[in-house]
Amino acid sequence: MRAVDIIRAKRDGESLPREAVEAFVRGVVDGSWPDYQSAALLMAIVLRGMTADETAWLTAAMVASGERVDLASIPGIKVGKHSTGGVGDKVSIVLAPLAAACGVVVPKMSGRGLGHTGGTLDKLESIPGFRTALSLDEFRAVLAEVGCCLISQTATIAPADKTLYALRDVTATIESVPLISASVMSKKLAEGSDALVLDVKCGRGAFMKTRQDAQALARALVGIGTDAGVRTEAFVTAMDAPLGRAVGNALEVAECIETLQGRGPEGLTALVIRLASRMVELGGRAASAFEAEARVRDALASGAAFDTFRAMVVRQGGDPAVVDDPGRLPRAPRTFAVTAPASGFLTGLDAGRIGEASMRLGAGRERVDQAIDPGAGLVLRRVCGDAVLAGDVVVELHYREEASLAPAVALVESAIAIGPQPPPAVPLVFDWIRADGETSFA
Ligand code: URA
Repeated sequence: MRAVDIIRAKRDGESLPREAVEAFVRGVVDGSWPDYQSAALLMAIVLRGMTADETAWLTAAMVASGERVDLASIPGIKVGKHSTGGVGDKVSIVLAPLAAACGVVVPKMSGRGLGHTGGTLDKLESIPGFRTALSLDEFRAVLAEVGCCLISQTATIAPADKTLYALRDVTATIESVPLISASVMSKKLAEGSDALVLDVKCGRGAFMKTRQDAQALARALVGIGTDAGVRTEAFVTAMDAPLGRAVGNALEVAECIETLQGRGPEGLTALVIRLASRMVELGGRAASAFEAEARVRDALASGAAFDTFRAMVVRQGGDPAVVDDPGRLPRAPRTFAVTAPASGFLTGLDAGRIGEASMRLGAGRERVDQAIDPGAGLVLRRVCGDAVLAGDVVVELHYREEASLAPAVALVESAIAIGPQPPPAVPLVFDWIRADGETSFA
């Protein structure tokens, strides 16, 4: 089938045959589909959607465009984790060593921050010396030794996604359930895990703004993973406000270290315990949810999770002195306080705007080739539900470039909502979606 016929068929709302989907991915990788044709098909998919079969074929073709990591030499059930991206979402950095400290092997390929969302690799690289560009042999060696390893996607993993993601980013074609599903799952299936726990973010700071859309994405992801023989589950979790109190790379690493020492913010700690408990169960390290949670809490309280994180940092070239004393992490030279304009209760802290402000301060990038400032970001001094008096510091901005401050302050001011009553309590986890059923918590 010619590219133009495939584009026309999708434009007209037809389902594509498997050969057409495979021809597209082949064309993207070998360059025989020029960007304008790929972009046209991507937009047609955004507008017309894809069936479950088309999405599965797209995912399979994207996995087959590269290498699949073989982790058979490492004993135990390998349980991966992925988040669809949020603001202040530092969960992986705490979760991987926590689950590993409970005996689960956690292989994790992560991404960089783009737009308003942060990326695990940028956060970890704020630890001086920390290497994320490991070879697959090094990846396996660290996994065998420490139990977890967080690296960047190598060039050989789902190369079709690398090309397509860059194109989607500049053609307004990110927000599509089939395209996000194929993108996420092509990388996750290539990563070599036996089971997967997915964190599908939902709300102002997420790609999926509504619970309904997030559920649809979660179901699509679980379906693809399950059909590919990987036990896959997803949690739909809140992302209206940032997760935790720190947003920005080094600031978030400091918060991760506090959380691993049992001193982290309540919401972040609760979410990490929830996801880790499920990973421990799926990894065969506990016979019940109750036992899994007890193991996870014990690994946090005993310092075993912190020790595993420290061992991973050392093994990946990072400076352990920073783990022992987070005050040695890079810091931005200036701070600025945004205060409450009125007294009352903090009813909202728009994660999308806070994430955008963090990017403007230098913590994130608008284009993939931009450098970031590891010390830049924000610290929330008040969180939703807190009582505030006019003039109280709500958000502290950390920055280097004077010119970055004004736009960031405007965004933070517009992110803050204050009302006369405390906001209704919102659960952190909305839904739990498994191949055999769903549970809703809200
Ligand atoms: N994360 C991904 O890896 N891919 C997407 O398309 C969106 C979020």
